[in-house]
Amino acid sequence: MIRVEKAELRDSEEIGKLFFEVFSPIYQKLFKYHLKESTSSAISRLYISNADMFIAKDKNKIVGFASSVKSIFSLWKNPINIVLPSRYLFIAPVRLRDFGKPLFLTLGVDESYRGRGIGVQLTNRIEKNSKEQGVVELFAQIHLKNELSKKLLINTGWSLAAKQGFLLLFKKKL
Ligand SMILES: CC(C)(COP(=O)(O)OP(=O)(O)OC[C@H]1O[C@@H](n2cnc3c(N)ncnc32)[C@H](O)[C@@H]1OP(=O)(O)O)[C@@H](O)C(=O)NCCC(=O)NCCS
Repeated sequence: MIRVEKAELRDSEEIGKLFFEVFSPIYQKLFKYHLKESTSSAISRLYISNADMFIAKDKNKIVGFASSVKSIFSLWKNPINIVLPSRYLFIAPVRLRDFGKPLFLTLGVDESYRGRGIGVQLTNRIEKNSKEQGVVELFAQIHLKNELSKKLLINTGWSLAAKQGFLLLFKKKL
């Protein structure tokens, strides 16, 4: 049984490891960016502290994570002691007018647990949490070649709002 729960700071190392496993090949392939494990842990700590982060657990093992933020500015509230891999990747919006709007930041599932509905379960939790915080419309940016997340977003009711360069902007009314 997979449980989804709110991530705590004590989970940041384990999430960081999974984040690294999930995203280092993607960043390398799609963005030609060499992600470090220490950066992955720092990103996890930042998201747990300054955004909302949820984890999917199989017994005590973290097998997935997802995060969202009501406004990207809250990631800058406290001094950030890491250099984000690329401001473009994390922060720059596809459309300037959407800057600062509620954003589904990241989603990742352990490769050996994929195709079992965990990504959808985490997405639902992110949407529910955002709605509880008064968010009426949530945005998500993905790489246009990220077929699995494109499929997941479309299957869960998201629609394409804009496209620029290699980024796609999806949105969903909550
Ligand atoms: C995108 C991602 C989070 C999906 O997680 P997931 O737990 O496999 O997703 P789900 O099981 O909820 O399923 C999503 C859909 O993709 C399919 N799918 C995903 N991974 C699959 C796999 N390895 N094998 C077969 N089908 C797969 C599912 O069948 C499902 O389609 P369906 O609803 O038509 O059946 C996961 O593939 C991942 O971590 N990718 C790398 C990171 C990433 O790209 N994140 C998103 C951008 S931030």
